[in-house]
Amino acid sequence: MLGMIYTEFLNMAEDTFGVDTTEDMIEKSLPNLPSKAVYTSVGNYSHKEIIVLVSQLSGITGMPITDLIKAFGTHLFGRFNDRYPEMFDSGEDAFAFLEKVEDYIHVNVRSLYPEAELPSFVCHRQGENTLIMDYRSQRPFATLAHGMILGCLGYFNEDGTVEGMELSADELNGFVAGFRFTITRHG
Ligand code: HEM
Repeated sequence: MLGMIYTEFLNMAEDTFGVDTTEDMIEKSLPNLPSKAVYTSVGNYSHKEIIVLVSQLSGITGMPITDLIKAFGTHLFGRFNDRYPEMFDSGEDAFAFLEKVEDYIHVNVRSLYPEAELPSFVCHRQGENTLIMDYRSQRPFATLAHGMILGCLGYFNEDGTVEGMELSADELNGFVAGFRFTITRHG
């Protein structure tokens, strides 16, 4: 996982829970962090380290892991907007944006960072107000995707709900993790 994901995560932890809690989280995680929590934005680190950090943060704060990852996804969406404004075309709506992640946004991410480990998305519309978005990955980050989808709805000021359902083993198509998101917008 790209170092910038880690630096964004540590920044969010510090802003939300303060320096002491963040240091406590790192301290408790250290035995399971090959990087020793020295992340540079251009480095690449095992995705397992973020799971270690989030688990410790959950233990310290009492917040469920899924809530923390979802909040991080929403935060990350905002930070990507700050960092890569050219990839956010303001003339569109949330559904059009989400449909571009696979063939445009993540394609651009891959050309900027050839070592990026990206998930696969397949989208299709179900009527005017529902978008189905299937997430598949070699990593278990569906909850992160969920948070990013919420961040996307917020960015476009759209009111909507996101429901996730795990894909069955024979729907994974060789991936390790899979989720179907049903995104419904209200008005
Ligand atoms: C709502 C839209 C988006 C969703 C749902 C989404 C989802 C994800 C997820 C779940 C991952 C973690 C990797 C995995 O699961 O295998 C990921 C990685 C990533 N995404 Fe997206 N993404 C979205 C939009 C964007 C945008 C707008 C950008 C940048 C402009 C971006 C850049 C990246 C980067 C840099 C990574 C990290 C790759 C790595 O660590 O190697 N994504 N994305």
